Amino acid sequence: MNNIIIAIDGPAGSGKSTVSKLVAKELGLLYLDTGAMYRALTLKAMRENVDLEDGEALTLMTEKTLIRLDTMPDAETKVFLDGSDVTFEIRTPEVTDNIKYIARVPGVRRSMVKIQRETAAKKGAVLEGRDTTTVVFPDAQYKFYLDADLKERAARRFKELRSLGIETALSDVEKDAKKRDISDETRKVGALKRAKDAVYIDTTSMSIDEVVKKILAEIKKIK
Ligand code: DC
Repeated sequence: MNNIIIAIDGPAGSGKSTVSKLVAKELGLLYLDTGAMYRALTLKAMRENVDLEDGEALTLMTEKTLIRLDTMPDAETKVFLDGSDVTFEIRTPEVTDNIKYIARVPGVRRSMVKIQRETAAKKGAVLEGRDTTTVVFPDAQYKFYLDADLKERAARRFKELRSLGIETALSDVEKDAKKRDISDETRKVGALKRAKDAVYIDTTSMSIDEVVKKILAEIKKIK
């Protein structure tokens, strides 16, 4: 499959990343983790003490930043910020907490969306994030919205943090997930919205394998 765009959106913990990687691998497409780009910018702003309330400063910083995503043969992504590998640093709770400041700046989003469109258009891709079905590729042939109950999403995130060696309480993870839903759904630009023409999949009681199979079956149907 070439030059095919598959866009997958949904809230944190809906299973997007794991599923998107597997779908990309199965179809031989590039996997584009758009959240990793907002994470890398947030890390840079924190490191350089850029005022997170200053949209203009964040836009300027973004314009001078080089973000590179390298997809490995196993579909894992390495994230490079101005040439340095920040794959692990961008996943800390501190970065996650501060993404809302970066994600709401129109100038920042414009730059990210441009890179995402150009990268994906070259050879086709599976893109996942919050606005890939509504802003980045609203006309993509294949659009999916993955969802899951808050409790299940928090439990998944808790497991993921543990696997990264980050100790935290499940109740805190649930509170954070709720806060992130609100900021993802209410920002003025690039908010998380369920596109009417996206295939909706509730993954609460589905295994990863089942979700991947469902997406591949839908793609065959739409083709
Ligand atoms: O997918 P993730 O949890 O790594 O995304 C982290 C944050 O990045 C998310 O809470 C909002 C932001 N984001 C965004 O604004 N637009 C995207 N397309 C992807 C992520």
